[in-house]
Amino acid sequence: MVGPKAYIHLDRLIHNYRVIQDQIGGSPMMCVVKANGYGHGSVECSNALLKEGCTFLAVFTFDEAMELRDAGIQTDIMIFSRMQKDFLEDATENNITLNLSGVNDIALLEEFEKKYGTCPKFHLKVDTGMNRLGIPFKNAGEVLQKISANPRLNCTGIYSHYATADEGDLSYAEWQLEQFKLVLSLADKMGIQFKYRHFSNSGTVINMPHTSYDIVRVGILLYGAFPSDEVPTDMDIKPVMEFRGPIVSIRRVKAGTKVSYGGVWESEKDTTIAVVQTGFADGFPRAWYEGGYVTFKGKPYPIAGRICMDQFMVDFGDDRAEIGDEVLLFGENGKDSLHMEEIAQQINSTPYVLSTGIHGRTERVYLP
Ligand SMILES: Cc1ncc(COP(=O)(O)O)c(C=O)c1O
Repeated sequence: MVGPKAYIHLDRLIHNYRVIQDQIGGSPMMCVVKANGYGHGSVECSNALLKEGCTFLAVFTFDEAMELRDAGIQTDIMIFSRMQKDFLEDATENNITLNLSGVNDIALLEEFEKKYGTCPKFHLKVDTGMNRLGIPFKNAGEVLQKISANPRLNCTGIYSHYATADEGDLSYAEWQLEQFKLVLSLADKMGIQFKYRHFSNSGTVINMPHTSYDIVRVGILLYGAFPSDEVPTDMDIKPVMEFRGPIVSIRRVKAGTKVSYGGVWESEKDTTIAVVQTGFADGFPRAWYEGGYVTFKGKPYPIAGRICMDQFMVDFGDDRAEIGDEVLLFGENGKDSLHMEEIAQQINSTPYVLSTGIHGRTERVYLP
């Protein structure tokens, strides 16, 4: 079908997995495949990672976890969203690890355990400074006490999440780590043992690799992008997604021709304008038209005018392109290379936003 295509290089996903494994000294990894594998396809990416030895996956919603189970994936899966009463039974049946992240969640589990004599696995999330989900630091003691008092509650892990691990200044992340250590030592004093203690994400893999604990949660690095422009970028990761759009129309225009909405772009000389069938509804960022470009056969070509919902135009100058040719929107292949990080920096966005924005009409093509 004509339209945008995301070529997913599974060999690069595996390459990245190995590079990260080296960086964290072989620690087990919880591979984060939420939001459809950051736009790369959660089932396909999970299957490739499982073959490589990954034993724990993480998603955000319960439905995302069930999508993996329905695809036959048996390994441990954790969900990061807030625990809800209505999925406790299915979570138990399907061996899905839940996120205990609010003080009242423990009552839900106690009630469930009393009624059914069983309890879904869960990890206790402590808020050490992100101020999103998580048991506030001041309430950690009371929740730990309840866990310690009822061994039938199936607490298999404890974790927290960094707010600034991908920044140049790591002082806040180090403070969060100190808070986490205090909670761990409190749990230790109460005699609670966790199978999994985890805190690290991609930023930490780069900036604080010595703080791995029992398992390392990794998302964006697996997909071959750096979490921010403040981290060192010397890890040899490769972009897994190659996002391409097809040329569907080509015309020669005179100097002074206005192109696209608002007529804000005007050709300086006679030139060739190609229409690419990909737009902001496909996740191609609208803000990228200012200074933005695509690459084709190793050469950059400027975007001409505003990106529309379904299409945009490219100024090919006097070069040749044919209808049906696919230009590279981001990613890497052969001579063409344009990393998401460059676009993100230019338009004040992040690779997380760009990659998860690829959905809907885009066809994913998996390359082994
Ligand atoms: C709780 C949690 N852990 C880990 C990750 C993975 O983060 P990253 O993609 O930066 O590795 C995320 C992603 O947002 C998250 O929400």
